[in-house]
Amino acid sequence: MEILLDTAHVETIRKYSSIYNLTGVTTNPTILAREKAEFFPLLQEIRGIIGDGQLHVQVTGNTCEEMMKEAEAVTDRLGKETYIKVPANEEGLKTMKALKSRGFLVTATAIYMPQQAMLASVAGADYVAPYFNRMNNMNVDGRQAVQDIATLFRHFGRRTKILAASFHNTYQIMEALMAGADTVTASADMFTTMVENPSVDGAIADFRRDWTDTYGDRRIYEL
Ligand code: E4P
Repeated sequence: MEILLDTAHVETIRKYSSIYNLTGVTTNPTILAREKAEFFPLLQEIRGIIGDGQLHVQVTGNTCEEMMKEAEAVTDRLGKETYIKVPANEEGLKTMKALKSRGFLVTATAIYMPQQAMLASVAGADYVAPYFNRMNNMNVDGRQAVQDIATLFRHFGRRTKILAASFHNTYQIMEALMAGADTVTASADMFTTMVENPSVDGAIADFRRDWTDTYGDRRIYEL
């Protein structure tokens, strides 16, 4: 199981990298637009924070030729180990095939249907990114879609991993993992919500009170 942070906010990446055992960071043009920063300097700063962790960067060209050139620019500036995110439509599948024949790492994105994931896997994608919440918004069962993709990959022995994305609550994240996602990418607040809540705070406060009643302000290493 792997977890990635779906943001390009540098301070958030710095903070959450120190807390969570992150596999890396995913971005897309919308996420990058929020930072209002120059494309490569921002991504290079992120690369500096995460070191050799995974960085997923989306190409935006309309044609295979454009996307190939973008992929080359991305790996030239950010390292060959950067995952090139390519939308899973026909031009994207063509691009994935070409990228894989030249040794790029590829993440198929904008996946709303298991059939896209299947074709992206056949094209050689390393990861497929089903959009869980966006599917739910279309009255498509995100959990079922992830489960179908997992079943297909298992049945055909595909090495492609499922990187479930687009989460708007933590329940969706757990649903995706229970359905067979290998990896999830989510915003920082999703991770915080998973471990910080009043019940947890209450339990910790109770333990602290009992400790202080017995041992005062001393810590274990002072006893
Ligand atoms: C993954 O990187 C996707 O681009 C992202 O999770 C989409 O999330 P959204 O549906 O919240 O825009």
